Amino acid sequence: MKYNIIRNEKYDFLGQSYSSSYPNLHKYPATMLPQIGSAILKELNISKGTLLDPYCGSGSSFTSALECGITQMYGFDINPLAILISKVKFTKIPLKILLQTKVNLRDEIYEFVKDETNLNKLAKPNITNIDFWFSKEVIQNLNIIKHFIYQIHDENLQRFFLIPFSETVRECSFTRNSEFKLYKMKPDDILNFNPDVFGIYFKRLNDTLSIYSRFYYPKLSDNVKVDVQYSKFQPTKDEFDIVLTSPPYGDSRTTVAYGQFSTLSNEWTGIDYARKIDGMLMGGIKSKYLLSKGLISDSIAAIYKEDNNRALEVSSFYNDLAASIVKVAQTVKIGGKIIYIVGNRIVKNVQLPTDQFIAEKFEENGFKHLITYERALSSKAMPSKNSPSNKTGITVNTMLFEYIVVCEKTTDIINK
Ligand SMILES: C[S@@+](CC[C@H](N)C(=O)[O-])C[C@H]1O[C@@H](n2cnc3c(N)ncnc32)[C@H](O)[C@@H]1O
Repeated sequence: MKYNIIRNEKYDFLGQSYSSSYPNLHKYPATMLPQIGSAILKELNISKGTLLDPYCGSGSSFTSALECGITQMYGFDINPLAILISKVKFTKIPLKILLQTKVNLRDEIYEFVKDETNLNKLAKPNITNIDFWFSKEVIQNLNIIKHFIYQIHDENLQRFFLIPFSETVRECSFTRNSEFKLYKMKPDDILNFNPDVFGIYFKRLNDTLSIYSRFYYPKLSDNVKVDVQYSKFQPTKDEFDIVLTSPPYGDSRTTVAYGQFSTLSNEWTGIDYARKIDGMLMGGIKSKYLLSKGLISDSIAAIYKEDNNRALEVSSFYNDLAASIVKVAQTVKIGGKIIYIVGNRIVKNVQLPTDQFIAEKFEENGFKHLITYERALSSKAMPSKNSPSNKTGITVNTMLFEYIVVCEKTTDIINK
């Protein structure tokens, strides 16, 4: 091990969940506990400057940063659902307007459904295999809600009302809600499944309003700017003082299927490439070559002995992560810091030292490694066991710890 790891129990936050400090506005896989981000920023005495999260998901790093006084933030993610959640959390909308819009929406829907001849007037939405995932009644009612949300002209307001809509889509579909991947319920469960779409939507809307008004709105002073976009991180003319992020742990297909989790929501909100997202995320396209240099190469060689294909898939993830780190590194100011929170997954019984890889790549790009803390993983919403050897019945704990990697920029590689 080249970069020293320090076990730090302070960062375990044992027994704490996401909702212990800041409930999320919408379910999202593999979220980062905002408490971790705030604690490390405080430890590093960072309370101002511009922050970047290149894989921002539902925006937990922004929550952490806001808690510490940082007000200027930029985020990127390829998943449109992630960007929807992040945007809504950090866009200030007067509560009075939200409440009035809720009343208007409810009245409009109520008037519309009173007249049965209206029910067939709306065009059927363009969702892949729609009848496989939703009953006829659910499709009709979701379509009505969607129609009236899209009548809201103000984009920020419209996005706010799409958050409970997206949750309702998932809850009223035939997907097994306990899974991130798209699995259909068993036939018996489908027979007993008759969700009240309007009731669920307005209950979800009330929850969204309550969480937003208690936890997010009060922090959104006029100088807070959170600018997020759905794309890969593109170096901009902005320079960052701090990068705080939790990147994916591996490709979506074999770790966390962010795209699949979001497919129905993304399709219902008009994203036509929803089904392609997992392939667009890090490691989504299989590499032709093995990664044979650096600290990760021995582990990849060990996987290769067991399974050539898996070794190529793993190589592709680390190649993408390395390319992304090069871009991120360029845009950090000298003296600026990066904080990456990662897990070291196991593939074919080989543990991949992602924390070491990240420290190494930043050191190759003008940074100096400062600290790596190890924290026990207790409450991350992701599977802690899988079958990395692909042998039925043999499961291995894929990750019991997470690593908080901190590096500081010392040199501008381009100007060297
Ligand atoms: C661990 S999650 C981030 C979770 C986030 N910290 C939160 O608490 O919600 C990783 C994110 O990386 C995104 N992602 C994967 N590959 C990406 C890429 N090449 N560019 C941008 N985002 C990517 C995924 O869509 C996912 O939202």
